Amino acid sequence: MPEKLWSGRFSEKTDRMVEDFTSSIDIDKRLYAYDIEGSIAHCRMLAKTSIISEADASVLIEGLGEIKREIERGDFQFDQGLEDIHMHIEARLIEKVGKSAQKLHTARSRNDQVALDVRMYLREESVNTIKRLGALSKVLVDLAKTYIDVILPGYTHLQRAQPVLLSHHFMAYYEMFSRDIARFDDGLKRINVMPLGSAALAGTTYPIDREYTARLLDFPKISANSIDAVSDRDFIIEFVSAASICMVHLSRMSEEFILWSSSEFGFIELPDSFATGSSIMPQKKNPDVPELVRGKTGRVFGDLVSLLTMMKSLPLSYNRDMQEDKSALFQTADTLRQCIDIYIRMLPKLKINRKVMQQATSRGFLNATDMADYLVAGGMPFRQAHGCVGEAVAYASNKKKELHELTLKELKSFSSHFKKDIFNILGTEQMIDRRKSIGGTALECVREAIHKAEKELSNNGLS
Ligand code: ARG
Repeated sequence: MPEKLWSGRFSEKTDRMVEDFTSSIDIDKRLYAYDIEGSIAHCRMLAKTSIISEADASVLIEGLGEIKREIERGDFQFDQGLEDIHMHIEARLIEKVGKSAQKLHTARSRNDQVALDVRMYLREESVNTIKRLGALSKVLVDLAKTYIDVILPGYTHLQRAQPVLLSHHFMAYYEMFSRDIARFDDGLKRINVMPLGSAALAGTTYPIDREYTARLLDFPKISANSIDAVSDRDFIIEFVSAASICMVHLSRMSEEFILWSSSEFGFIELPDSFATGSSIMPQKKNPDVPELVRGKTGRVFGDLVSLLTMMKSLPLSYNRDMQEDKSALFQTADTLRQCIDIYIRMLPKLKINRKVMQQATSRGFLNATDMADYLVAGGMPFRQAHGCVGEAVAYASNKKKELHELTLKELKSFSSHFKKDIFNILGTEQMIDRRKSIGGTALECVREAIHKAEKELSNNGLS
């Protein structure tokens, strides 16, 4: 058991159970590369400001590089007694290069160190998430292009409402994911702030150059208040809340795939390579992938609640409670990544049952609004038209007919405004074509939306 780096003021050895309880190495070891990069920059700054000698700095930097390679080769001894990744690397450095390694932690504390590491990790993860969401958006735009003219019922309350283009439906998800991208991108501004130099909480007595460290680590900004810098986990909460919203979107899409692939809907078929069978019922093909995405949404919401609860009422500044942030953050980032990636692969392989979708628009009075709009065009106030068509629906429903299957004579019994041309607007295609308001489902509007989306993706370097 290596001696603890903080053992000076202690006369008893740490209880074994306490070591296991307080250790975070199993979780935070994945921060090793950021920790080493941060330490190297810190060393360079210490040498530049003559707090340590150039000679010491080069020994330390070389040693840190070797440790990185040891970890990557799997040649590194992890030990619960050393608590976390920061202590592991420092202890190993002392073991390797001896005395000068003891200077590495000058003007630094684990409190600003851990904040730095997580920020470095999270800015990379955010950039990757944005790229991934860009790829998913591109897949959605491609689907919209492929199935540009497929018609399906649009729903409200999960009741057939009005026909829409499937491409319009896919583009609705495009919009959601583009807001997610904007959220992750905005969060980056607050992640990309360099906390090192805050030391334990109050700053340091050494003549450090924080701007220099920030430049070395490519941070555009340094933190303004040392107490805040070691206490702040807002940037993590923001990432996890952006991830939660993104998971909401993914879960809604999942739910639709699950419903749509059921025999009740029959709108789509999932690719065999993305479905699983039942161990007992030979006929089954289950939508496990969308089900798991839907299910995993719960984990991410759970992580958000964990983080909020963990931070709530914590007195300033650093408290050990905050060590719990990483398991929540990593679980969220990993879950989100898996869910987006699997959909990037699955979506292009969806089988769209164009006929079944179109067929589903033919019954259920989906043209009732259009009929009311027709009466309005003839001069009737909308509310009155609504009532009038409502009566026609009740009548037709009794007769087991659709509105367009009623005769002109039957229609005239509800309003004298009905003329022969009413039948020109009750077809599904006409209904779609006439919804030309900006953002509507008319083919030309959807084409425009696709065009805009393609431009957006390429402007942002996402396609
Ligand atoms: N492992 C700790 C964490 O993740 C690092 C900071 C520890 N600081 C301390 N004063 N014990 O929060």
